[in-house]
Amino acid sequence: MGKLVTYEVREGVAVLTIDNPPVNALGAALRRKLMRRIARAEGDEAVRATVIRAAGRTFPVGADVREFGQPPKAPLLPELCDRIEAAQKPVVVAIHGTALGGGLEIALAGHYRIADSGARLGLPEVLLGILPGAGGTQRTPRLTGADPALEMMLSGRPVSAQRALEIGLIDRIAEGELTEEAIAWARELGEAVEAGATPRRSRDQRAGLADPDAYLRAIAERRKALQGSRLPAPPRIVDCVEAALLVPFETGLAMERAAFEECLASDEAAALRHAFFAERLVAKVPELARAEPREVARLGVVGAGLMGAGIATVCLAAGLEVTLVERDEAALAAGLERIEKLHARAVEKGRARPEQVAERMARLRPVTDMEALGEVDLAIEAVFEDEQAKRAVFAGLDRVLRPGAILATNTSYLDIDALAAATSRPEDVIGLHFFSPAHVMKLVEVVVGARSDEAVTATAFALARRLGKVPVRAGVCDGFIGNRILTAYRQVADFMLEDGASPYEIDAAMRDYGFALGPYQVADMAGLDIAWARRKRLAASRDPAERYVRIADLLCEAGRFGQKTGAGYYRYEGGSRHGAPDPEVLALIDAERAERGIRPRPFSPEEIQRRCLEAMINEGARILGEGIALRPADIDVVMLLGYGFPRWRGGPMFEADRIGLLPLHAELARRAREEGDFWRPAPLLEELLADGRRLRDLNG
Ligand code: 3HC
Ligand code: NAI
Repeated sequence: MGKLVTYEVREGVAVLTIDNPPVNALGAALRRKLMRRIARAEGDEAVRATVIRAAGRTFPVGADVREFGQPPKAPLLPELCDRIEAAQKPVVVAIHGTALGGGLEIALAGHYRIADSGARLGLPEVLLGILPGAGGTQRTPRLTGADPALEMMLSGRPVSAQRALEIGLIDRIAEGELTEEAIAWARELGEAVEAGATPRRSRDQRAGLADPDAYLRAIAERRKALQGSRLPAPPRIVDCVEAALLVPFETGLAMERAAFEECLASDEAAALRHAFFAERLVAKVPELARAEPREVARLGVVGAGLMGAGIATVCLAAGLEVTLVERDEAALAAGLERIEKLHARAVEKGRARPEQVAERMARLRPVTDMEALGEVDLAIEAVFEDEQAKRAVFAGLDRVLRPGAILATNTSYLDIDALAAATSRPEDVIGLHFFSPAHVMKLVEVVVGARSDEAVTATAFALARRLGKVPVRAGVCDGFIGNRILTAYRQVADFMLEDGASPYEIDAAMRDYGFALGPYQVADMAGLDIAWARRKRLAASRDPAERYVRIADLLCEAGRFGQKTGAGYYRYEGGSRHGAPDPEVLALIDAERAERGIRPRPFSPEEIQRRCLEAMINEGARILGEGIALRPADIDVVMLLGYGFPRWRGGPMFEADRIGLLPLHAELARRAREEGDFWRPAPLLEELLADGRRLRDLNG
């Protein structure tokens, strides 16, 4: 722990330095100390002005999220902000790093703001299911007007120092050393106040309220855009910003407080907090504690298809040298075109500058001969999902890679240990399972083989982090964590399909649950042929007693592979990406039910959601019990970041605790009795019940 807040007087200016590593979160002890330091500066005769700054890498990034959900401790952040604003001596706030949430609110409570040119300022509370709760909704629009304030609070995205200056959020950008400039400025302001001026308080500012019509228009537009929003915080944010124009400051603060408390206590906020900490917990794996990652500067990518091209693009953006291997010139040209398209899109969207792209492309070496990989530190294989093809590639990599280089595979389902066995160095083999589109999706499953060296696992984690990804540790099994749960999800959906629900009802129910797309929309998008090929591959080893739904096979036999063939579960007219329900599909399903002697029954949206969720939870519990996933939180992160599970629901394992393991188990057991083994409760659930524990107790 740092010193929380240090006090130093320099040339008549009290310099209060917030010091609470790593991110200067505003915990209770720090708030107490800052409160005292402000009072001391006010009473200190040697002081005529105050500077608030921070030590370390950043100005405070907000309230201490770990305190949420616990009894509040005085002084509360709003009280602290009010105290700062009420100071009689001018307060200058010097901002570096990222001033977020309560951190920015402290800055707004100060009288004047100066920032480093690289600073970023934001109000990300909405991402945690809450709203700024220390005056942010009232002070921000007084300075910036409604539109920029709403944009910050509703998107949660920080703005640059330059943008903050333009919208009136800060007054100056430091040209030289931030603290020195802040002190010099504070001294001038102190003299002015001694000569009779009053410090400028955000609560008294009107610049942002100067055009009430524009202000109310912005409110109306955002309110309209939020219609149907499932989260409690965004509409409350709009209400509070509206109040900033219409009611006195104190009333606005009271409204903000009430809305903040209400949102903080919501299920959605609890789920979003869980997601926040879960995403950080997954980075903590035993291998990283025990082994040093190996150096990775040069990387090989084998296969420049959909995934290989995306992976190469991400690696180039992260500053790596990439050698890209394809099987022939034509495939290589097609792969390069994919990479160029991704770059062009990035430039179009303002995510990269043309000269950056040129610099990245200069680090790319496209080849058709695997021998070129002799110097790479790690090679990722992304060729067809075919065991023979992959074994051949692995044997080749084994031959050309230098000792100590790592052999990684992007396989979605195949057995990493079997691939490792195709090499003379199974300890250097690991799975790096990216998600499509690889340049966008944050998740990477790091699939640790039975013989993967700990340093290889540590390297995979370090590399994924360097690529800006969230790595989750998975063990070897068919589908690892995510695709295994997806399989259970699809299976239960198929059972309902055969038993009476339409694909459109199932998709609508799961959208209503919070997924952006239902399972059949996703299947149409990914292409039905891939899963079909997999089912054919697994057919021989399938337990004949297991329930098998043939509807997807029948669609494939009819040439309906999804969007790419213009028809799947939906029909896509004229190349449209929005499918329309198709009576032919319903007829096909009806005929199949008749053939099997199934009398269709209705499914309510709630039943569809419940069955899908229970299937995911039960499979998740099996995965945990088998040690495939380290912790329940790891499963949640996979589902949130890789499969579109609604973040504000926290993930399937978080949902399981919310339902309660007792009723959950009872329901699974009943279904197992009535409908068969698919529903048999995972042994882990029974163990936890016997010990009176919850899943979350396994998160450590
Ligand atoms: N409270 C408590 N701990 C926090 C925290 C916070 N607000 N923000 C980050 N941390 C912790 C992380 O959990 C992590 O801890 P760990 O090392 O034990 O896992 C450590 O700080 C470092 O964080 P990251 O690994 O995320 O570091 P990065 O450099 O990648 O990112 C960041 C830094 C951009 C600040 C990112 O952590 C972040 O976005 N934090 C959340 C910021 C936020 O949401 N602030 C608003 C809080 S709500 C609020 O202020 C309410 C007010 O309006 C009343
Ligand atoms: P793809 O078919 O688009 O690309 C495969 C590429 O590999 C082709 O360009 C092909 O020419 C090339 N290739 C084949 N044999 C080769 C060889 N011996 N040497 C060099 N190049 C060779 O396939 P896609 O979708 O990119 O999938 C690749 C891998 O990624 C598969 O293992 C797949 O399971 C996995 N994956 C796919 C995801 C997806 O959504 N498509 C998601 C996550 C993983």
